[in-house]
Amino acid sequence: MKEQKLTSLVNEMTLDEKIAQLTQLATPFFKGASDGGQITGPMADMGITDEMIENAGSVLGASGAKEVKNIQRKHLEDNRLGIPLLVMSDIVHGYKTIFPVPLGIGCSWDLELAEKSAEIAAKEASASGVHVTFAPMVDLVRDPRWGRVMESTGEDPYLNSEYARAFVRGFQGNDLTTEKDRVAACVKHFAAYGAAEGGRDYNTVDMSERELRENYLPAYQAALDEGCEMVMTAFNTVFGIPATGNKKLMRSILREEMGFDGILISDWGAVKEMIPHGVAEDEKEAALKALTAGVDIEMMTSTYVKYLKALVEEGQLDESLIDEAVQRILTLKEKLGLFENPYRGADEELENEIVMSAAHREASRELAAKSAVLLKNEGVLPLKKDQKVALIGPFAENGDILGPWSWLGSKEDAVTVKEGFLQKIDPSQLAVAKGSDIETITEEQIKEALEAANDADVIVLALGEDSDMSGEAGCRADIKLLGAQLELIQRMKELGKPMVSVLFNGRPLDLHGVWDQTDAVLEAWYPGTEGGAAIADLLFGDRNPSGRLTMSFPYSAGQIPVYYNHFNTGRPKGAPDAQERYVSQYLDIPNSPLFPFGFGLSYTEFTYGGMKLSREKMTCEDSLEISVTVTNSGSVSGEEVVQLYVRDVSGEVVRPLKELKDFEKIKLEPGESKEVSFIIREEQLRYHHSDLTFTSDPGTFIAYIGGNSRDAMEKSFTLLK
Ligand code: GLC
Repeated sequence: MKEQKLTSLVNEMTLDEKIAQLTQLATPFFKGASDGGQITGPMADMGITDEMIENAGSVLGASGAKEVKNIQRKHLEDNRLGIPLLVMSDIVHGYKTIFPVPLGIGCSWDLELAEKSAEIAAKEASASGVHVTFAPMVDLVRDPRWGRVMESTGEDPYLNSEYARAFVRGFQGNDLTTEKDRVAACVKHFAAYGAAEGGRDYNTVDMSERELRENYLPAYQAALDEGCEMVMTAFNTVFGIPATGNKKLMRSILREEMGFDGILISDWGAVKEMIPHGVAEDEKEAALKALTAGVDIEMMTSTYVKYLKALVEEGQLDESLIDEAVQRILTLKEKLGLFENPYRGADEELENEIVMSAAHREASRELAAKSAVLLKNEGVLPLKKDQKVALIGPFAENGDILGPWSWLGSKEDAVTVKEGFLQKIDPSQLAVAKGSDIETITEEQIKEALEAANDADVIVLALGEDSDMSGEAGCRADIKLLGAQLELIQRMKELGKPMVSVLFNGRPLDLHGVWDQTDAVLEAWYPGTEGGAAIADLLFGDRNPSGRLTMSFPYSAGQIPVYYNHFNTGRPKGAPDAQERYVSQYLDIPNSPLFPFGFGLSYTEFTYGGMKLSREKMTCEDSLEISVTVTNSGSVSGEEVVQLYVRDVSGEVVRPLKELKDFEKIKLEPGESKEVSFIIREEQLRYHHSDLTFTSDPGTFIAYIGGNSRDAMEKSFTLLK
């Protein structure tokens, strides 16, 4: 159906039908849904009528080829003009084959595998009838108290942008009109949801426009540049106005400046939440503000269907704004081919064949292994396959390793750590005990754990947070490991045996009581369906850890926010001429994080040498090549993430001490060396000035190359006028 046909379809629609297209409801509202058609509960509360449902534009949370076909079929029977539903769901890090949480995927520094994970998720989801996924979430994060850091790829705008592109490519493929096994992506949450004050979900976000543009907008722009079809609004305020009603943010910045002409959907209830935010007297005003700001679809509140018609009839709202929104929604339906085939990729046979297939599980296992970060290892890893191992802790046999937003993934399908270990060693070599629950511990549990570990050669502690301690509304003020588990560590330490901590969690933790009390620490995040197998691959040396942190681990919550690309201040601690006291420091803890951005260990060693520049001065027209020789000076093959950072020594505004500009993940055999080169161009040196112009300045720069943001070789160069 071409443009003009869509326009004529819009013209055929009544105002009520148009407005209903702008409404998204969850499955229980729909007759064809297994839990659908309940006239009581939610429908009555929201004032939703049968007619509104018959004309609704999209359904939230449907899945399963059979179920989706039923919902669509029933809907088309009732819809006067035969306009099909868009089926949208949260497929964030896997559909049913669950991959590591995105913060884990981010630590893999493997963009290809990240893209592959999104492709697999899309193929499973599209065969199951889904058309759109509410992903990728690309919010930049600097506060691990926030529950949703697990959903992001971390604290760096450049790296988040690279992952945004990779995820959109994976979800959408090259052409959604022809590739029915992909889904449309919806980048979220626009904008700057990750900067909620105090790391408390839904809390105020308040920052300068320069900061927003410099650090928080790039990843959304990257997703849009990759063709992302939809954008979701953030719950929070931006410049003092809730994003969902923020005309400057949505019309001026998102649509006009960033060039987005696709569908803008509100987050769940965010339109109506403008009332408690205090910018709308009532639902009618909320509806007016949201549509005026350009929000095309209202998710799970009903202000549009209840008040837009009156607003038009009263002359407060021009119907053309509604027509524009409808046109955008129908355009996506047309692009997805839903007018020709409302069932698109839904295919029960294909669904049975590919969902949770061995190939998909293997991809999940590989990515889980690449996402884990070895934070400490004092000679205890890898484990030997003839050792007697005691596996102790609440995550020893726990399937809760899928993490939040793993919706259709099932814990029962997850490979536990115990199951992973039994793929490596004989049962006679393995003793398992829970030792504690996530938040509680008993003397009985301790006794059982001590007995289990009594004649072990090594103790592996499987510890972490319950998955509902992360994710949406999963915020924690104290980010230590739970007290019961810290006590378990102390009690197990009494045995005087080597101890390894494996952590299952969705945020950087304050690791006091863990990293200082055990001989090795492996951060596994929530590794997904094959998590236990991947962890066993790593601990027994069949894979060498290669993950590198993309979010700093604070020394303590008192340091937050702590991130690598910070400013120097006028009184930097440790400067050559710094005074003892009057510098920017804490009296009781260090300034630097416990583990910095980019950090991660390996079972081998990598050494850097021979750093050189192709020239020391460059102009805006040319570029500069910078190279270094990396050697695997250890005894096993391994992968290293070679990272390039740049510092602009003096800008029109203060500039970060380091900014990631490029990276390369390389594999080296023992003794092997490789020259790694990067090209620096003037456009990589641009930044937002105080007047918001985005340009570079001539002057001195320092290039750093290393295996993390702290330990790096450096050389200066000059950008000429
Ligand atoms: C939630 C989340 C959003 C999600 C949406 C639909 O509140 O904020 O990320 O996509 O609702 O489930």
